[in-house]
Amino acid sequence: MSENNEKNVSIEDVQKQKEYSEMIKRINQNRVIETGRQMFAYADTYGCQQNVADTQKIMGTLFDMGYNLTEEIAKADIIVVNTCAVREHAEEKVLGIIGEYKHLKDKNPNLTIALCGCMVQQEHMAERVRKSYKHVDLLFGTNASWRFPELLYNTLEKNQRVFDISGDDSIAEGVSIHRDGKIKAFLSIMYGCNNFCSYCIVPYVRGRERSRLPEDIVQEFKELIENGYKDITLLGQNVNSYGKDLNLGVDFSDLLEILAKNEGEYKIRFMTSHPKDATFKLIDTMAKYESIAKQLHLPFQSGDNRVLEAMNRGYTREKYLDLINYAKSKISDLVITSDVIVGFPTETDEEFENTLKLVEEVGFNALFTFIYSKRSGTPAAEIGDHATKEQKQVRFDKLLNLQNNIALEHNLSMIGKIIRVLVEENGRNREYPYSVRTEGGRLVNILGVDDSHIGSYVDIVIEKANMRSMSGKAIF
Ligand code: SAH
Ligand code: SF4
Ligand code: F3S
Repeated sequence: MSENNEKNVSIEDVQKQKEYSEMIKRINQNRVIETGRQMFAYADTYGCQQNVADTQKIMGTLFDMGYNLTEEIAKADIIVVNTCAVREHAEEKVLGIIGEYKHLKDKNPNLTIALCGCMVQQEHMAERVRKSYKHVDLLFGTNASWRFPELLYNTLEKNQRVFDISGDDSIAEGVSIHRDGKIKAFLSIMYGCNNFCSYCIVPYVRGRERSRLPEDIVQEFKELIENGYKDITLLGQNVNSYGKDLNLGVDFSDLLEILAKNEGEYKIRFMTSHPKDATFKLIDTMAKYESIAKQLHLPFQSGDNRVLEAMNRGYTREKYLDLINYAKSKISDLVITSDVIVGFPTETDEEFENTLKLVEEVGFNALFTFIYSKRSGTPAAEIGDHATKEQKQVRFDKLLNLQNNIALEHNLSMIGKIIRVLVEENGRNREYPYSVRTEGGRLVNILGVDDSHIGSYVDIVIEKANMRSMSGKAIF
């Protein structure tokens, strides 16, 4: 752990939080003696991978406090809901779930209900929860999350509601992490976002960009490899701006190269890349190392230059295509995925056609498509919108249809190919009972392996394909 990053929370402050964890552990031990039953924690995560990674830290901390993890909510002594604010739908879903949890609290008054993450970092949401969801005991925003032990201690010890969305942009190193599974891992390399895309709430709820020191990342990465992890995804809202705030002369491509040089058979992935900051150097680094997965998630959001400018994305359709074409020329079989927003305010049918054309031209392996959702506090929320909900739905369906056909073509073209894959788990398909991922992250169901292969690489031949997935068998 290093102290020479000015954004880092001091070692003393991290230590103080560990002491709060210890105090809660003692409270829990007494309760276990009194009641004769173990203490359990249940977590619910909404939103992106960054939130999944944050929940893993909260779970790691809860373990330190003596809680066991449970998937059965009825058994829980503490429920933590990690929220998302990116679209209205995400917020409605969380509010619905919290409403449902009231009956759990009615049944068990000792239950602690905690809310954290992006949605509740917004003041109006914290207030709404305070007033209308009185069964919520603890609420903390993304900025206060490293003080979770202290906040929980105050909730338990003083038996009062604790709401805290204070704090500024910081990085806490040395927090325990409880990762799900032993094969795939998320590794946060930076936090926050400086881009202020005009539709997006993320910069307001996650603060300014700050990068972890390279040595802290390298140390965590090496530990993962030593512990047998095979598929590691580096996380940040815009990984391509990694290091800009550190001034150490290490950019994202350099970091990737340092990590990719480690011994062993594993794959490194990263997300998200922003086209305005992604470089040819990044593509060259990807091409150079076998340990970097040949997968690029590069959100374009719109194929129309006027809309891109209104979105404040900082690149043109031409710049985006230059990057994609360079990547395709350097890396054969590159899997390219993207995010798209349909119905940004003032987008016309003609402008939307440019999105369709770009999708056709690139031929993405997969697309994450979203209908624009107004987020109060963002500049786009102030722009008048003329298209109706129905018009937006028509555009959305057109896009989905086009992409489904492209994905089907991609998958069909894989039939007969022999590829190397990582066996992840028992799948749900009875005929092809194991799930694997291709290097590009695509799902394949296979037969011909058993549980002893989970976590290992095997060669397979693809036999069948449809729009969503492929199936095949192992060859030894
Ligand atoms: N930092 C990443 C992803 C952020 S959120 C990036 O810049 O690509 C994930 C996706 O949600 C975005 O890529 C965008 O497509 C979508 N999104 C963000 N805000 C949205 C909004 N207000 N309405 C609809 N989709 C949105
Ligand atoms: Fe949101 Fe844009 Fe930042 Fe991504 S880069 S998190 S879309 S503001
Ligand atoms: Fe949602 Fe926050 Fe991620 S708003 S998409 S959980 S950064």
